[in-house]
Amino acid sequence: MKLPGVSGCNLCVFLLSTLVLCLAYLLHHLENSDPGPLPISSMSQDINNLREMYKTLNKSCFILGASGETGKVLLKEIVESKLFAKVTLIGRRKLTFEDPSYENVVQEIVDFEKLDEYAAAFQGHDVGFCCLGTTRAKAGVEGFIRVDHDYVLKSAQLAKAGRCTHFNLESSKGADKDSSILYTKIKGQVEAEIEELDFDRYSIFRPGVLMCDREESRPMEWMTRKLLIPVAYMFPTAITTPMSVLVKAIMNNVVLPADKKMELFHNKHIHELSKLGETKAK
Ligand SMILES: NC(=O)c1ccc[n+]([C@@H]2O[C@H](COP(=O)([O-])OP(=O)(O)OC[C@H]3O[C@@H](n4cnc5c(N)ncnc54)[C@H](OP(=O)(O)O)[C@@H]3O)[C@@H](O)[C@H]2O)c1
Repeated sequence: MKLPGVSGCNLCVFLLSTLVLCLAYLLHHLENSDPGPLPISSMSQDINNLREMYKTLNKSCFILGASGETGKVLLKEIVESKLFAKVTLIGRRKLTFEDPSYENVVQEIVDFEKLDEYAAAFQGHDVGFCCLGTTRAKAGVEGFIRVDHDYVLKSAQLAKAGRCTHFNLESSKGADKDSSILYTKIKGQVEAEIEELDFDRYSIFRPGVLMCDREESRPMEWMTRKLLIPVAYMFPTAITTPMSVLVKAIMNNVVLPADKKMELFHNKHIHELSKLGETKAK
């Protein structure tokens, strides 16, 4: 159909401008929407003092998914910070590290299909970090549910039985057990089911699209991240989360005294929490 007096080219420009304006409006809305106050009230405390105090507690931790993009950055921070007296990786394969600072990291190799048989691997860690996950494209629908729900929940159950007191879950923006979208539904379901385990402290992080240089080739994700670079610049907290920001937030939160048993960090909270202890440029 051709409108009188309107060329095809002008129509394209008009439609494209409308689309860009709608997107900008949506991103502006997301950037300025209020997720509520941070679930932590002790933000004014000196984070460096808290870190030093935390070290004296000689806590131990485990990481699930340490070979993944989040897990490896988190592991690096944990090793470099010396926050924990003992660090254990629970995974399906042995990882090799050239850096000598990783030499005391313990590795427990488990079969996630028979996790009950590996309950001992989950015994005696004070803190657990779960960065486990796959994608539908990689594992199919069933495989995705198996990893992002079944493995995550079973690991949390074993950690609870093994006396873990603080469980940290990397979930996702939009997680909602009532969602009609499989990804956000599964994320919301597993969040809720872990809450029922009643950990002394349970921290959920819901980052947006993780901005990192992914080792594994995922062309669609790579293209999305490239397209999102200007969005991340203009609307930093709307839909993206730099990996360093997420890991800093997790590391800051772990040493902060908790107000509640369950803490839910939306993307904006993650950005805010990551800035704790940063010295402001004069
Ligand atoms: N990517 C994003 O933009 C994004 C955004 C928001 C939230 N998230 C969520 O954040 C979490 C971490 O994301 P990520 O991108 O850092 O993850 P990732 O790089 O894909 O790493 C996933 C980890 O899970 C392990 N894993 C995957 N399938 C497994 C299986 N079948 N059995 C045992 N282990 C398995 C991997 O181990 P191997 O190395 O052995 O495969 C790896 O350690 C996920 O739950 C993800 O849904 C991601």
